[in-house]
Amino acid sequence: MSAASLKERHAAAARALESVGQPHVLRYYDELGEADRAALVGQIESIDWPELARLIASHVQSKPTFTLPAKIAPAPWYPNIPPANKAAHYKKARDLGEKLIREGKVAAFTVAGGQGTRLGWDAPKGTYPATPIRGVSLFGSMAEYIRKTQKKYSARVPWYIMTSTANDADTRVYFEKNNYLGLDPKDVMMFPQAMMPAVDMKSGKVLLESKSSMALSPNGHGGSLKALWAGGAIADMKKRGIEHISYTQVDNPIVKVIDPQFIGLHAIDRCEMSSKMLPKREPLEKLGNFCLVDGRMTVIEYSNLPDDLAHEKLPSGELRFRAGSIAIHAIRVDFVESLNTRPGGFALPFNRAEKKVPCLHHETGAAVKPEKVNAVKLETFVFDALPMCERSIIYETDRVDEFAPIKNADASPIESSVDSPWTSKLGQTERAARWLEAQGVKVARRADGRVDAVIEIGQLTAIEASDMKGLDLPKEVPAGSRLLL
Ligand code: UTP
Repeated sequence: MSAASLKERHAAAARALESVGQPHVLRYYDELGEADRAALVGQIESIDWPELARLIASHVQSKPTFTLPAKIAPAPWYPNIPPANKAAHYKKARDLGEKLIREGKVAAFTVAGGQGTRLGWDAPKGTYPATPIRGVSLFGSMAEYIRKTQKKYSARVPWYIMTSTANDADTRVYFEKNNYLGLDPKDVMMFPQAMMPAVDMKSGKVLLESKSSMALSPNGHGGSLKALWAGGAIADMKKRGIEHISYTQVDNPIVKVIDPQFIGLHAIDRCEMSSKMLPKREPLEKLGNFCLVDGRMTVIEYSNLPDDLAHEKLPSGELRFRAGSIAIHAIRVDFVESLNTRPGGFALPFNRAEKKVPCLHHETGAAVKPEKVNAVKLETFVFDALPMCERSIIYETDRVDEFAPIKNADASPIESSVDSPWTSKLGQTERAARWLEAQGVKVARRADGRVDAVIEIGQLTAIEASDMKGLDLPKEVPAGSRLLL
């Protein structure tokens, strides 16, 4: 980059900032060295300032209000256990899902661009040691799932990982140092998502993290639908003949990274984007609600579903709105392509998240570590693409089989932990116990039903209950023991 062109870019950046009342972003420019200047100008160029100005008016200076659509109904779903009259359809779908995997038409996709602030792990969240005995990382566990799938179906399964500019380099180093977790590096592709500046809640000014950088954070998992395109993943998928993307989050070590039953149901019904659901444990469980709004699949956030609807029961006693979203999707490659190539592009709605964001003091320039929330982050959610689909199905999954997320750090006392490493390890052990018990193994349990042992079934050994058949298993798992399979 020549000095002259940096000068021009700086002038253009200054004009863009001036026009939206954010000139302070360049306040320390004269104090910076050449490399920092170029980096800051690059950051400024990456932001759509008129759009950000509109969002500051609508989401920072005022709070967006939610209007419940007039016509809302619970979305229908495929139950986890096939009803007798649908058994043949499920079988056909599973066969199709397996065929698509065998033919190399399904890719794994993990969104790993989040900051993982609640867990407080000083590295990309995917590197967090998650399994109860070996301490295999979240990425490691997913890599084992993919390796097992490749072996079961004699197939090549590429893995796309969305990072952010904040964790991309560390994620790449982790994969390189760990020999790509046993996968062929040619089948692992990483790409960063776009970032958004955090905005001071009171003044509506963009926060600076340092003299040479805005306080940037990833623009939400909804950013994946643009990043898949902009980062070249869709082009790579098309070259490989991939038709379906199996979308999962990095924080759940027992997620079915690719589930032939789900992919098959999604494909056989010719859907653009489909989702898995969990029946909510209680009316106000913090999961988005799958609804039909004017006939279109829509997720209504738990905070937006009125209490009376959230509590409403069917004659059977079950919740009427019970399908909770756990961020597992099947997405057609050509759907992502069509979103990104439609005239005028596409936009997902932004959401306001109030956070504590370290920054420079707006007057003194001193580093501030806020005690209270001071900033608004702007994020989009991937499920907001569902209403853009002509066809979309929901498939119910089982909590024990597939949901043991790590969101928060362990609490004290440990029993009060929620979605933490400890609860996840209990969940992993519970699933392993269930799979063993189905094979006739006696597993020690405490009076409250919790497994009285630590059990880990590596994902190279089994990724679903039926993989346990024919394994050399112990007759029992005694109280206080540790079993690794
Ligand atoms: P979460 O909403 O749990 O956020 O992300 P997080 O960033 O991991 O954690 P906190 O809220 O800071 O504690 C759910 C999934 O979406 C990904 C995360 O990496 C995780 O897999 N994600 C989230 C992105 O890829 N990009 C984002 O901008 C946000």
